[in-house]
Amino acid sequence: MDAVKVNLPSHEYKVTIGAGALGRVATFLTTDLGSSPQHAFVIADSGVPRSFVDSVVQAIGANGCEVRVETLTPSEQDKSVETIHELLKQVALSGHTRADPVIAIGGGVVGDIAGFVAASYQRGVPVIQCPTTLLSMVDASVGGKTGVNLSVESSNGEQSLLKNLVGAFHQPRGVFADIEVLESLDERYRVSGLAECVKHGMIGAGVGIEHAGLMDWMLEHSDSIRRFDPVTIQELVVRNVSIKADVVVADERESIEAKAGGRMLLNFGHTFGHAVETIGDLSPDASRPELAPLHHGEAVALGMMAACNAGLSAGLCSQDVVDGLKKVLEAFNLPTRVGGLPTTLKVVERMSHDKKVSGKALRVILPTGWGKCEIINDPDPEWIMDGIDSIRA
Ligand code: GLY
Repeated sequence: MDAVKVNLPSHEYKVTIGAGALGRVATFLTTDLGSSPQHAFVIADSGVPRSFVDSVVQAIGANGCEVRVETLTPSEQDKSVETIHELLKQVALSGHTRADPVIAIGGGVVGDIAGFVAASYQRGVPVIQCPTTLLSMVDASVGGKTGVNLSVESSNGEQSLLKNLVGAFHQPRGVFADIEVLESLDERYRVSGLAECVKHGMIGAGVGIEHAGLMDWMLEHSDSIRRFDPVTIQELVVRNVSIKADVVVADERESIEAKAGGRMLLNFGHTFGHAVETIGDLSPDASRPELAPLHHGEAVALGMMAACNAGLSAGLCSQDVVDGLKKVLEAFNLPTRVGGLPTTLKVVERMSHDKKVSGKALRVILPTGWGKCEIINDPDPEWIMDGIDSIRA
């Protein structure tokens, strides 16, 4: 079993990574939470095999703790204030006290919802994150971002889902990433999670010299990563969580606005990616339209390619960086081009839409070298359009 520390001065915590990590949750509650909790509220993802959830629940219950389990089917639509309201009522009815934990067992959506429930109930109760997808292990479960989407109607009557607009920073007390759970995911979900690992590789050198080699390491181990060899995947998760932890410790509240960035760098590929993710009929494989819509990681892969080409157009990075990223994404079978994109102007509008509704200017993260990115405010529209055109199949 491996452990990565998130050394935040006010609340240091540990990410436990390895096969069987979920088996450590019950002991953690009795030894590390101060006093043994009387109640625990588990929010479980319906996509996680029930045996994993049951084993955690039974072990906690065996310590004399009363456990309540709510199961959610994750969706961006239901990642809402209404869902939080329903869950908070259940938590209150269960007799939950300030010392009792909320435990998330699931992917990013469940982790964000459970985290926000824990942040809000009695102004904050402990949350334990048990991520069950690669994406949530390497990114969402670490760093304390919690929250839900907000559905708003703009002045022209158009309904928009503003992602993660409502939430709180609420660091987990512990994170348990059980590599065995990943075996239950289908191939496309597993590969999709690799996009966030590539994102970390593309910013790693800027975060710290010890992270500079992640892209090359992933390329070297691409066969065993694609096979999801457990030993290699464990090392992959450890390397990625270490980068994420360093970024979070340097900029816990995403307040660094300088070019060199802080936590904002974790949005690399996401502004372009979000625009293509919201176009429902795009498929990662032009010959298989039935695969539409894009999964988040596939959209992020395309978004990173677009950002890299925008960086090239801006003169910030060289062709080698673009080629290197393409090679790594192809090694993982992630898309680098997509068929059926609407006009470039329409994609630009989608990139700017959320920002306009929430009153923010467009901001993108562009590469400046191999493993290094920068924050660019109000980028030249030509760079953005070149980036979008570069991912057209
Ligand atoms: N997933 C982006 C962040 O944690 O800041």
